[in-house]
Amino acid sequence: MSLFPPTFENIQKAAQLLREGELVAFPTETVYGLGADAFQEKACQKIYTAKGRPSFNPLIVHCLENTQVEELAFLGQDAQKLAAQFWPGPLTLILKKRTPSLLPSIVTAGLETVAVRIPLHPTARALLKAFGRPIAAPSANRSGFLSPTLARHVLEDLHSKVAMILEGPPIEVGLESTILDLSEDVPILLRAGGLEIEKIQEFLGQKIFMNQTVSKIKSPGQLLKHYAPHLPLRFNAEDVDSEEGLLAFGSPLSGSKVTFNLSKTENLEEAAQNLFAFLHLLDERSDITGIAVQSIPEHGLGIAINDRLRRAAEGSKKI
Ligand code: TXA
Ligand code: MG
Repeated sequence: MSLFPPTFENIQKAAQLLREGELVAFPTETVYGLGADAFQEKACQKIYTAKGRPSFNPLIVHCLENTQVEELAFLGQDAQKLAAQFWPGPLTLILKKRTPSLLPSIVTAGLETVAVRIPLHPTARALLKAFGRPIAAPSANRSGFLSPTLARHVLEDLHSKVAMILEGPPIEVGLESTILDLSEDVPILLRAGGLEIEKIQEFLGQKIFMNQTVSKIKSPGQLLKHYAPHLPLRFNAEDVDSEEGLLAFGSPLSGSKVTFNLSKTENLEEAAQNLFAFLHLLDERSDITGIAVQSIPEHGLGIAINDRLRRAAEGSKKI
């Protein structure tokens, strides 16, 4: 298996593979996705098998434009406003599903809602256009492991399980999409992600809550151990051991065996872009015993970065 640049021919080939019920990995502006024809049950089943993903954890359906979304779900007032403002982009909306639905129930894990988003990345868009139908795609990593921001990550994690991997151009956001549930009376944040929650709040003119109790029931995937590196990870580190690798932010602590700096200038966009790639690089090393991460401010993209680090720290705890 090799990596395929997104030439016209390769995009056509990838679309054909999707029609044949195969899996194709492709970049989005957030992370790489593992795509299947959203209308083919068997193809979507392959996603769960390849990832080792529990069947109760539904998939995000990627669409080219609003008309495609409207065939699958009801866009209420808030959804229409948010779509006009933030799509295409790193925002996933949970909407009430139309019935009867073209989507096999495996895509939504039997729920009455569906997660949809319109991606911005040129390769994702070219593939959606060539294919002409929605593509169901979770992040292209084995369930519970680090999300992929480079084609190489997908190759290493899933190589034998995917028919084709489209590579590049580089991903701009580097964190999974923000998930907003619009299926109830008030919007609820289910996952902090690549679109800052402050931007959504400002645009809607209201505070958005992340209701832990609700979100536990509502976003099954958020219950799972996630983003776990193999090495133990501790965050908000104020010192670092000589046997540890350091993930720095701003001015780096001294004394580590190896250091990767998420952003020397404390730029959260840059830190988000680098996060998964640097975690992968540190996690591949055999000469360190753990990863220490310096603290990152809890605002803007920092909220999503800290969420991923918290999960990585939890996931890597030896139980
Ligand atoms: O940026 C992204 O969102 C990437 C790219 C590929 O688009 N995709 C992604 O998918 O992160 P995944 O499967 O790793 O995460 C999707 C999350 C899961 O936590 C899942 O539980 C939640 O979305 N989800 C999907 N459908 C849902 C629904 N109907 N209600 C609530 N949560 C849902
Ligand atoms: Mg994922």
